[in-house]
Amino acid sequence: MTKKYDIAVLPGDGTGPEVVDEGLKVLEAAAGAYGFSLNLTTYPIGGDHYMKTGEILPEGIIADLSKADAIFLGAIGHPEVKPGILEKGILLNLRFGLDQYINLRPVTLYEGVATPLKDKGPADIDFVVVRENSEGLYAGAGGTLKKGTADEVAVQESINTRKGVERCIRFAFEYCRKRNKRKKLTLCGKTNVLTYAFDLWERAFYEVAAEYPDIETDYAHVDAICMWMVKNPEWFDVIVTDNMFGDIITDLGAMIQGGMGIAAGGNINPEGVSMFEPIGGSAPKYTGMGIINPIAAILSAQLLLDTIGEPKAAVAIESAVKKALRHDIKNVSAGKMGYTTSQVGDLIAGYVKEGAGD
Ligand code: IPM
Ligand code: MN
Repeated sequence: MTKKYDIAVLPGDGTGPEVVDEGLKVLEAAAGAYGFSLNLTTYPIGGDHYMKTGEILPEGIIADLSKADAIFLGAIGHPEVKPGILEKGILLNLRFGLDQYINLRPVTLYEGVATPLKDKGPADIDFVVVRENSEGLYAGAGGTLKKGTADEVAVQESINTRKGVERCIRFAFEYCRKRNKRKKLTLCGKTNVLTYAFDLWERAFYEVAAEYPDIETDYAHVDAICMWMVKNPEWFDVIVTDNMFGDIITDLGAMIQGGMGIAAGGNINPEGVSMFEPIGGSAPKYTGMGIINPIAAILSAQLLLDTIGEPKAAVAIESAVKKALRHDIKNVSAGKMGYTTSQVGDLIAGYVKEGAGD
């Protein structure tokens, strides 16, 4: 009997539905070629749904989603909704509600893709950021006093638990070992100023490191890592960091790998259900034009297959993307690809079906 996976699909807002369509096209091609099938259930959540119904997350959706094998998400964010409502109400609620405590973001420069970094090529830009995804400044601890007055106080606290930090660090060591490249894990923090939070991170990091003698360890402050990611990206293999720093450095990572059009991510719960999304957001200005690059979503589908246990199909997707980037797509930016969104999906799905060699 062929294996069947239940995939929850959340197309979301803006260009989300367009890129999700192409991701699904490629997923179906991979399923056909590698002998498994997908049972898709689509949920209409996002800004449009909220504007129409006032509902942010439907009752019981976390329980429903936790029964799926994986979640495929387009983008959440709507220009007419005040910042924070959808981001916290949907995206962060899903990440937290499903305890997706890892945000995995590969930074890979593929051949044929232009990087803004002078004299750097695919051999230099090939690392993965493991971002803690359930705590830190994102936990929502804090509050305001005397709001709107001259004496207003705003406090936003970073929550770091030993358990939360350690499980993230452990995941990063395991991932680094499994990735089997340079076998180097860099902790990114700010031990010179955030002396409570990153003292905990640093101690946990070196304690766990003792169990991984095969992995080289390194430390860099977050400001310095921004500098090194530009100047010497080849130093990095896997970087582990907290939620806020991970958010920031992965936008920088997306730029050095060619842009938001190809930056993929996974919100991972290693013991539960994971959710995969392009990291670029809903790009409202490109909505409905058929010019957004779907490769970030397609590479998120690759991460999805790798996580649910279809590594061969995942490799096939990456090979197909590589082939399209090397031979066909000369510019990865929206509107400059020389192909429509849907044609890029067709091209890559076609290469998956052919069993693309490079
Ligand atoms: C991301 C996004 C989100 C984050 C926002 C939309 C809440 O920037 O996935 O990186 O900050 O995590
Ligand atoms: Mn971000």
